[in-house]
Amino acid sequence: MAADVQLLLDLLETRGNESYFGERVSVLEHSLQAAHFAEKAKAPCAEVAAALLHDIGHLLHHENEDVADRGLDTKHEEIGCEYLRQWFDDSVIEPIRLHVAAKRYLCAIDAAYLAQLSESSVKSLAIQGGPMSELETEAFLTSPFAKAAIRLRRWDDEAKVEDLPTLPLKHYLHHLKTAMPTE
Ligand SMILES: [Fe+2]
Repeated sequence: MAADVQLLLDLLETRGNESYFGERVSVLEHSLQAAHFAEKAKAPCAEVAAALLHDIGHLLHHENEDVADRGLDTKHEEIGCEYLRQWFDDSVIEPIRLHVAAKRYLCAIDAAYLAQLSESSVKSLAIQGGPMSELETEAFLTSPFAKAAIRLRRWDDEAKVEDLPTLPLKHYLHHLKTAMPTE
């Protein structure tokens, strides 16, 4: 199990350092910042782990960083969950799977939220289906992980600060190990 955790951290460290996907921060910086905000909010280990790993799907598909410009939805949340399911249960997986839906939900219910989205996030919103309809918002809220997904989404949006000092990846080993179900 410890080797598996190291595999995840290595993937974030190497590919995450090189990938940007339209933001001013790399995927690694973005992931560390999201985990930092989750920990600052005193979230449980599973939610800190979800924040750290929520964009790992971006490191697993083979599209270039201009995907949104090309009108492509890579479904990075689904790719990430498929990969992470070998180690984690729904407490980590479901907020990640729903973090794009949570953005579509928040855009539907909160005009101020929509107004503060980054340029890249607005671009991908259109590709991801735009703000939810009323029916879709009702369906979204029936998930037991909807609230955790909304929290993750807000840390995700916050985690785009250039040069924000964060703790190193190894700080989150504890959260990842704690979030893994014991056999
Ligand atoms: Fe993100």
